Parts: sequence; structure tokens; C-alpha cells
Amino acid sequence: TTYDVGVIVGSISSTSINRRLARALTALAPQAGLRLTDIPIGNLPMYSADHDSAIPSEAAEFKRAIEASDAIIVVTPEYNRSVPGVLKNALDTASRPWGDNSFAGKPTAVIGVSVGVIGTAAAQQHLRNILGFLASPTLTQPEAYLQIREGLITDDGIVTDEGTADFLMSWLMAAHEHFDRARPAVEAIPS
Ligand code: FNR
Repeated sequence: TTYDVGVIVGSISSTSINRRLARALTALAPQAGLRLTDIPIGNLPMYSADHDSAIPSEAAEFKRAIEASDAIIVVTPEYNRSVPGVLKNALDTASRPWGDNSFAGKPTAVIGVSVGVIGTAAAQQHLRNILGFLASPTLTQPEAYLQIREGLITDDGIVTDEGTADFLMSWLMAAHEHFDRARPAVEAIPS
């Protein structure tokens, strides 16, 4: 099965290294049976409980894009040992109104790249905590912590180091297997 996977990049920086990583994953994904499509978060208003009764159109569209995807890959930077505020805002937006959590049961996988040596490990741990609360089954192994170095991923998403490209491919294949296992059981019931 080829899965349609939404990609959420937790950075809105025009020079984002995580955006570059997402482009690299998108290029590699077809070989792992995954079709990756970007789900933008930069246009989302800051979440407020006021939106629960009058949901902004950008938020509604974002929720629909998640719900329409077979699975979600989150590519996150680490900001101050956690996820960037823009990403937390997107996750909070997707989780509401109460009873209409777009991540419920949606299989996910998390990955990230940073300039620091721990390669977004602290941010990803926080992200796992959030996705767990949102009832999203998240790929546990292999973990994927990448540290950027000059030229590792080009602007248009070509991974120049063979070992890194191989690792990303094996991570995508593990994500595919996780999506197989985590598929909502209801889909198995014949109509
Ligand atoms: C950072 N950076 C960073 N790096 C890291 O490894 N651990 C951290 O806790 C932080 N904290 C942090 C806070 C803030 C506010 C900024 C702006 C940056 C550096 C970070 O890895 C680097 O800026 C990346 O380039 C961010 O990813 P994008 O936006 O380029 O994808």
C-alpha cells in the first residue's frame, strides 16, 4: 500500500534546515511506499478557545488536511529544548474544539535536524508527549536525531552523504511499517 502522508514542518523560517530535511524525505519517500505532501502551519492564527465556537477558516482547512491524510510526519526544530511555538500552536489548533481532535488515532512519526549535537532529541521527546495525549500512535524506533553540517542537505533537498541518505530511507521504511500496524482497525471491517 502507498500511503498519503501529510508533512508538518515546525519551522516557518525561510532558510529552515528542517524544511530542507522535509524536501529530502519527500524525494526519498516514494521508494518507501509513501507520498509526502506539505501541510503548512505558517498561516494559522494563534489558537484561542474563542475559536471553538467560530473556527477560523485556516484552522478548519488545516484540520481537514490532517484528517484526509493516512498518516502524519512531523519534522521539528528544537527551540530551547522544546518544540517551537508555531508547532505547538498548530498541534493545539488541530486538537480542538473538544471532541474534534484531528490527531485521534492518526499514526505519526517524528524527526528533526538541529545545529546542536543532540539533534532535536529534547524537542522530539516533548513532541511525543503531546502526540501521546492526542491519542496518536507514534513510531518509537528507530529514533532519528540529525545534526546539520555544511552541505549535508542541499536547498532543494538532496542528501549529499550516502550514510545519511540510507538512514533516512530505512527510517521511512520503518515509518511505513508503523503506519501499517497503526492503521485504524475500523478500516478492516468490510462495508
Ligand atoms: C535554537 N536552536 C537550538 N538548537 C538546539 O539544538 N537546541 C535548542 O534548544 C535550540 N534552541 C533554539 C532556540 C531558538 C529561539 C532558536 C532561534 C534556535 C538552534 C536551531 O537548531 C537552529 O536555529 C535551526 O536552524 C532551527 O531549525 P530551522 O528553523 O532552521 O528548521
